[in-house]
Amino acid sequence: MRIKALFISFHLGLLLSSCAVLSFAQETELIQLPPPNMTGGKPLMEAMKDRHSSREFSTEKLPLQVMSDLLWAAFGINRPDVGKRTAPSAVNWQEIDIYVATADGLFLYDAHEHALQVILSDDIRAKTGPQDFVKEAPVNLVFVADYAKMGDRADEDKRFYSAADVGFIGQNVYLFCASEGLATVIRGRVDRDDLAQTMNLRPEQHIVFAQTVGYPKK
Ligand SMILES: Cc1cc2nc3c(=O)[nH]c(=O)nc-3n(C[C@H](O)[C@H](O)[C@H](O)COP(=O)(O)O)c2cc1C
Repeated sequence: MRIKALFISFHLGLLLSSCAVLSFAQETELIQLPPPNMTGGKPLMEAMKDRHSSREFSTEKLPLQVMSDLLWAAFGINRPDVGKRTAPSAVNWQEIDIYVATADGLFLYDAHEHALQVILSDDIRAKTGPQDFVKEAPVNLVFVADYAKMGDRADEDKRFYSAADVGFIGQNVYLFCASEGLATVIRGRVDRDDLAQTMNLRPEQHIVFAQTVGYPKK
């Protein structure tokens, strides 16, 4: 366990430019995120006015608080009493998992714990898409549908509903970024087979889209 603790500390040292207080769950390799800011930001109509896709990113890392706010806005739990989320999902399947690819590794957002689970210690950003900016932007979100959570529907239905569900999450990310002055673009251009292999996904897990996030290039 000591090795794991050191391993996580190493990740955090690289991942986080924030001085936020962190806590660790060694057994499950969870990095606790600070509570999200659920107030403030731009008025909704201003954020909508500013929403746009951008493909020019600074290499500056996101502070931990910004990562926390981003992931909560994307698909965090906004009604803890019923475990429901900031984006809708068909049949309330909540089948979309958000993986976070950074220079310091690959992480899985655990909405219930509001934490990041360490998946890989490698920098796989370049594998998340063929476009040039992808490998240098600090964060690439990878939206993965877990068909195992979608009952016994045909795969065609699962593909249809999971794509719609990612659309809502992606728009949440767009609006959060517009509010925070961050740059973002959702991306369909992903080599899904290659990336799924790199991420060690199960056969029931299907990559839907990726979304790059970072500060705008100065
Ligand atoms: C489903 C979807 C897939 C997209 N895939 C890519 C992509 O692979 N690469 C990219 O640079 N932009 C991608 N985009 C961004 C669009 O090009 C962009 O939204 C469009 O040009 C309109 O620009 P705007 O978002 O600034 O309004 C995608 C957008 C959507 C909705």
